[in-house]
Amino acid sequence: MFDLIVRQANLVGHNQPCDIACQAGRIASIAPTIAATAQREIDARGRLVSPPFVDVHFHMDATLCLHGQPRRNESGTLLEGIALWSDLKPLQSADKLKERALKLLSWSIARGTLAIRTHVDVCDPELMAVQVLLEVREQMKPYVDLQLVAFPQDGYLRDPKATAQLKRALDLGVDVIGGIPHFERTMAEGAESIRQLCELAAQRGLQVDMHCDESDDPLSRHIETLAAETCRCGLHGRVTGSHLTSMHSMDNYYVTKLLPLLAEAELHAVCNPLVNMVLQGRQDTYPKRRGLTRVKELLAQGINVCLGHDDVVDPWYPLGSHDMLEVAHMGIHALHMSGIAEMNELFAAVTSRPAQTMGLNGYGIKEGNSADMVVLQGRDPIEAIRLRGPRLAVIRRGEVIAEAAPAVSSVHLGEQTQQVDFSLP
Ligand code: FE2
Repeated sequence: MFDLIVRQANLVGHNQPCDIACQAGRIASIAPTIAATAQREIDARGRLVSPPFVDVHFHMDATLCLHGQPRRNESGTLLEGIALWSDLKPLQSADKLKERALKLLSWSIARGTLAIRTHVDVCDPELMAVQVLLEVREQMKPYVDLQLVAFPQDGYLRDPKATAQLKRALDLGVDVIGGIPHFERTMAEGAESIRQLCELAAQRGLQVDMHCDESDDPLSRHIETLAAETCRCGLHGRVTGSHLTSMHSMDNYYVTKLLPLLAEAELHAVCNPLVNMVLQGRQDTYPKRRGLTRVKELLAQGINVCLGHDDVVDPWYPLGSHDMLEVAHMGIHALHMSGIAEMNELFAAVTSRPAQTMGLNGYGIKEGNSADMVVLQGRDPIEAIRLRGPRLAVIRRGEVIAEAAPAVSSVHLGEQTQQVDFSLP
């Protein structure tokens, strides 16, 4: 007898529904029919069963932080967001921060997002957010894979404390080295910060994930330096460029030279469509730029491109419930990626591609892998994105850790009542 069997699951890459048997936290068997029984069975009824969503770009120290705070971001701009974050930081307490992080993670789990890479600001001399999120990482380990990035929000060189603070955060157990070269005082200091941080990553054997060129300035070219330093330091495949919004505005000829360099460095790229659609292009009159990086061109170059949520209800973004299907949905619109293969690619950009960036072991619905999966409302990735329905079952190591009923409305037309779930005939 197995621990769990999910029956009649539609799986990407399989041409007929399958049963999935789980034992001792692993996927023991996948077959069209499994005759054995299990302690618990779930009938997926031909719905898509996907590996969990992965959010490779998030800010957990800021999330939900407007609750009970004195003011909100009235203008909705990046600049007011940064100013508001500086005002809010001294008001943070460890208890409140932990409470907010745990609340957010309960939302993440309900949405089937079971792996998250979160940046954590290391510019506070007490490193309070680092300490709290390290505790949260341990506490939530049975449910969610959390990776922390040491993020010098006020600039690695611009903030005189940041260099030492970032190293202290790594000593405490933060996983990944962050940076923000476009926020340093000059282009030259931005490049110097990249050089120093990549050398640090090489010395410590760590990955790098930088906020890079989150700007509408077509001459913000730190991504070029990041790729070159990745090659110089032998960090191939271990470096991620996040946001990369200036690539939207760059000269087309220059981009044709840049893309092969990014491929040579085996860089991972992260686009954050919800947040950058809101924050970029704010100085434009008309036409207004979208400010998202060149996802199609990066993918065509063979670069591993992921989508991130970035923020949920914080100084930079007022909306969200940590639903990666919302991210993919916005990506389809804002990136002009509504082709069939393109929509499927954006589903991969919130599942398997970010799992590769984070280096998750045993990820994916395959025999022998971790028994982690999500039963979705919808038959395939495109329908799941279209409906963005409740996650019907969220399974971690073979146990159901969240469940919900499908979204159905009762429509009353005179004497008749119809049940409407928005599925296609
Ligand atoms: Fe970010």
